[in-house]
Amino acid sequence: MKLLVFGSCNIDRVYRLDHIVAPGETERTCDYAVFPGGKGLNQAIAAAAAGAEVRFAGAVGQDGELLTETLSSRSVDISLLQKTNGASGHAVIQVSDGGENAIFLYPGANETITDAYIDAVLAHFEAGDLLLLQNEINNLPYLVSRAKQRGLRILLNPSPCNKRLHEVDFACLDILVLNEVEIRALGGDDDLAVCLQNLAARYPHLQILLTLGADGCMLVADGETLRQAAFETTVVDTTAAGDTFTGYFAAAITRGEAYRDALQTASAAAAIAVSRSGAAPSIPALAEVRAAMPGMRERQPAAE
Ligand code: RIB
Repeated sequence: MKLLVFGSCNIDRVYRLDHIVAPGETERTCDYAVFPGGKGLNQAIAAAAAGAEVRFAGAVGQDGELLTETLSSRSVDISLLQKTNGASGHAVIQVSDGGENAIFLYPGANETITDAYIDAVLAHFEAGDLLLLQNEINNLPYLVSRAKQRGLRILLNPSPCNKRLHEVDFACLDILVLNEVEIRALGGDDDLAVCLQNLAARYPHLQILLTLGADGCMLVADGETLRQAAFETTVVDTTAAGDTFTGYFAAAITRGEAYRDALQTASAAAAIAVSRSGAAPSIPALAEVRAAMPGMRERQPAAE
């Protein structure tokens, strides 16, 4: 099974502050750094770090060298990537002392995806291959419907969650990996269990993997629910923790790994990623994750 990640690349400008700036406030930052990022790039790197052969499709601008070099140096095949005349996407990221982040994005090249480019990319893939998507590029509805017509398996991480997702035909999807904010927006309720029921009723074949931050994750698939606790970690920067988890999980699917093992390894990889700064640079390799796992402790659920 081949793995195609079709998604965004961003130059991340990361500012560290003691708290996230509120409207009307001006704050001095303690630190500033530039990292490669973007949900597509991060997830592609995570899947490659987890041992999958990954092809990446998307677009960078004239300033995209950091992005293309990072993808190549982390063993992601970028032969299908487009280079445009404008600027690459970029993100302005505030990271607080507590490790929380707030992000705004300029899409740049990420929103230059045409129907013709999508068709040209998909021509390299066949029924049964896995397509990993996020919501940081334009033309997602067309991409999803064409991939479905070709028989690809589609995993969508609907992040960031915004109204453009309503144009995507979720009946074409196979797997959804999403967090609490995203499932509430898509499931139409505050109660997570109700949201899960609503989505399962609307899309009975959809496998839903819900990430719950420090409370771990749960996978609802084929009438079964699997839970995995989060691992204890020191939180430095949560940026790309979800991307690390999703990329690792996608890689495990391409190997046909049991879901229980896939969830455990993906959770351990995400715990390591949050203990480091930056998006793509924080993503650990599989060997490192496997070596660390015996010494890692699962977080205990909070007492009721
Ligand atoms: O998920 C983290 C990513 O979100 C960052 O790398 C940033 O580019 C934004 O896309």
